[in-house]
Amino acid sequence: MAQTIRSRIEAGVRLLRRHGQEHLMQFAAQLSQEEKLRLLEDVKSIDMTLVNELITRYVHQKPKIDIPKEITPAPVYPAHCPPELQKKYQQAREYGERLIAEHKVAVFTVAGGMGTRLMFDGPKGSLPATCLRNKPLFQVFAEGIIATQRCYNSIVPWYIMTSPANYDDTIIFFKEKKYFGLDPANIVFFRQGMMPSFDKNGKMMLAERHRVATSPDGHGGSLRAVYKSGALADMASRGVEYISYFQIDNPLVYVADPLFIGLHALDGAEMSSKAVLKCDPLEKVGNFAIADGRTMVIEYSDLPDELAHQHGDDDSLMFKWGSIAIHIVSRAFVERINSRGFSLPWHRADKRVPYLDENGNRINPDQPNAIKLETFVFDALPLAAKSVTLEIERSEQFAPIKNTAGVDSLHSSQQLQIKRAARWMEAAGIKVPRKKDGSADVIIEISSLFALDADELARKRAQLRPLKPGDIVYLG
Ligand code: UTP
Repeated sequence: MAQTIRSRIEAGVRLLRRHGQEHLMQFAAQLSQEEKLRLLEDVKSIDMTLVNELITRYVHQKPKIDIPKEITPAPVYPAHCPPELQKKYQQAREYGERLIAEHKVAVFTVAGGMGTRLMFDGPKGSLPATCLRNKPLFQVFAEGIIATQRCYNSIVPWYIMTSPANYDDTIIFFKEKKYFGLDPANIVFFRQGMMPSFDKNGKMMLAERHRVATSPDGHGGSLRAVYKSGALADMASRGVEYISYFQIDNPLVYVADPLFIGLHALDGAEMSSKAVLKCDPLEKVGNFAIADGRTMVIEYSDLPDELAHQHGDDDSLMFKWGSIAIHIVSRAFVERINSRGFSLPWHRADKRVPYLDENGNRINPDQPNAIKLETFVFDALPLAAKSVTLEIERSEQFAPIKNTAGVDSLHSSQQLQIKRAARWMEAAGIKVPRKKDGSADVIIEISSLFALDADELARKRAQLRPLKPGDIVYLG
């Protein structure tokens, strides 16, 4: 056994040497048997051909992203249905409801990110996110799924992508919380791929003496991981045709929106998106555009300033639609791109990555010292022959939690959650006491188990009580 491990280490060193990465094995002689095996596993999992190409293209240079020469704004279905589309929206909503009822819709949450900005210890999905009951994000979505299943007398399986790093913690969390009342048979967890981190000279880094420093390969990795892990085949075996995709950090998301699903399906789309009106020309969201007849998202950092500021005939911004990472993806589309082989462009980010120096000391840098490479899910849009973009009201469906404070923080998200709840109450005919600045003078939390949307709340008008200033109300 010892002999075999030694020869495997030697083979590993030879392989790495050919690629100028033999330093990854520099502590091998000091490792225990188990650690040696772990290191060998890490090294074996690295696709050296890909890594070499990425180092040349993305590490040794900061590649300029070329956007297509001819881009035009993407058409969207408006959030407020105009009279000429009323019939279509009605039809789409009903069709979406039917698809859910016929068990053809699954929910897919990507939860593999490192959440470095939030600095929360544990999977982001376990972050207490609601304002009164402090429900973790996973519970918020679980309740959305339970409510959808009840509403349509259906089963909506839930696929959750984690990274290898937060997989175990995520499973333990769900077990502890008894799957939030869902049937564990209808929840499928799987791991995404990882990508080594590189120093500025293109050398891979060690996180520990026996571990290569890696990070998740981006939410774009979900489209491959869902296939490779067998999750897509699981969907097929259940008869799922449409995947409702969203990120872990947005508690206001509609987990399975019949209108969105219906528009996607009626129009024969392969991958569709929700869009919000940008707050300002340079807002840090991806921009929807059309190039060569295909929908695409151009990162804010890649859209030239003059295009970002350009106005159209109606005097509004030409590129006014921002991406919020909510999609419907056809299962057949994911199958097709995987079976033919596909690749998404890589995006480089200069980040702080703890590493071991040549003496084996762990260094925690305070400045970006490393390059991480990720793919983004929206880069799959141009692979879709047809795509639908649906505008949504930002305040209704988007309150992301990314940062510890300020914009897109837990605090800002909770304020938006209360704001939406207050709006739903008003739409149901309940007067909401307001402070001088117009904000609600009450704290309200509405679980999806009580109402999935404003219409459902209005139907429960008889169960709602009048509100007094300072009231704290939980509807669950
Ligand atoms: P973010 O871009 O916000 O990244 O991910 P993050 O890793 O969560 O947070 P920071 O940038 O380190 O602060 C958006 C969504 O995509 C998922 C995240 O879990 C989140 O739901 N994601 C991101 C993955 O599932 N895998 C990845 O490799 C990256």
